[in-house]
Amino acid sequence: MSSLPNTHEVLLRNSQLLEGRVALLGVSAPELLQRCPSAGLAMTEHAGVYQSLMSCTDWQLCFGYESEGLQAGSFDSVIVFLPKARAELDLRLAMAQFLGRQGACLVVIGEKKEGVAGGAKQFVQAIPDGLKIDSARHCQVWAGTNRQPKATFSLTEYLEWTPVTCAGVEVAVAGLPGVFSEGELDDGTRLLLDNLADKPLSGDKVLDFACGAGVIGAWLQAYRQSTGKEPGVVDGLDVQAQAVACAKATYQRAGARGQIYALDGLAGLDGHWQAVVTNPPFHTGVRTDTSMTEHFIRQVARHLVPGGELRLVANSFLPYEALLQQFIGPVQKLVQDKRFTVYRAFQRLPR
Ligand SMILES: C[S@@+](CC[C@H](N)C(=O)[O-])C[C@H]1O[C@@H](n2cnc3c(N)ncnc32)[C@H](O)[C@@H]1O
Repeated sequence: MSSLPNTHEVLLRNSQLLEGRVALLGVSAPELLQRCPSAGLAMTEHAGVYQSLMSCTDWQLCFGYESEGLQAGSFDSVIVFLPKARAELDLRLAMAQFLGRQGACLVVIGEKKEGVAGGAKQFVQAIPDGLKIDSARHCQVWAGTNRQPKATFSLTEYLEWTPVTCAGVEVAVAGLPGVFSEGELDDGTRLLLDNLADKPLSGDKVLDFACGAGVIGAWLQAYRQSTGKEPGVVDGLDVQAQAVACAKATYQRAGARGQIYALDGLAGLDGHWQAVVTNPPFHTGVRTDTSMTEHFIRQVARHLVPGGELRLVANSFLPYEALLQQFIGPVQKLVQDKRFTVYRAFQRLPR
């Protein structure tokens, strides 16, 4: 049995697409690289996958869409794996048109359940001679010619700004295709921010787990300042390259203080914080999946100082309360609306 995702298997069975210099955009399984006939460029926007790609030393690796070190027109074939967000497909296709030489083969591969039919329409808009060349393992493969290569590609051209106001304090939040809640403040995040205004955290060294575009950290510091307090420091971490880029941009524009880490969960994170705040992830792909957040709850206590606080917002139907009680300490529901609950748990003091 193969351990590769369907999209990766389907690429391998179309071996003619892997001739010459090849770039793979959106790799999700590092094993694919070992099964390719020769090394090329591999891009992923997932920090955990990027970490495991590091062992493929003969490949050029790229974390997300930062174009530093990339050369225009240097690939014969560019394979685009369909991303979850439609807007991100345009970004990935633009990167493909930049990396492919004049006349290069450009390819999109995606699963039907992930919406490859819609992705194919976008592909044909960008690459008018695009055609379906294979359909297998619940996937479609579309290929066309790079007739209009792009001479430049810069992620900053895609950056957009959204003003976000909560409890009377406004911050500008950076957005990029594929970033969570781009262009608006998520309702769960809003409930969390209102609650942070209502019941401030005690410590001023804070970690924002799964920080997305950095809205929580930037707002929290601005809010504290507006009430005459020290802004403190809010470090952030996220697994997605665009989120990390946005969080850095949001912090820079707001003058916010804190490190932004590109990490898959808490693995590889050192340090202790007086408080951890989070609107954690609960989706992977098309299904609801809470395993990532459950794992986070099991691990987070080791990053809290004794008596430190976790403040977490989640859909009320998600089963976190018992876990918070078990792995962190006494839990309170601070506020609840029709959809979301904000929980607070203090780390048990050692006896
Ligand atoms: C619900 S969003 C919250 C984003 C932001 N804090 C906000 O409130 O707008 C969850 C975030 O979790 C990130 N994420 C998903 N899996 C992750 C993982 N394994 N490690 C770290 N972050 C992850 C996603 O990229 C996304 O930005």
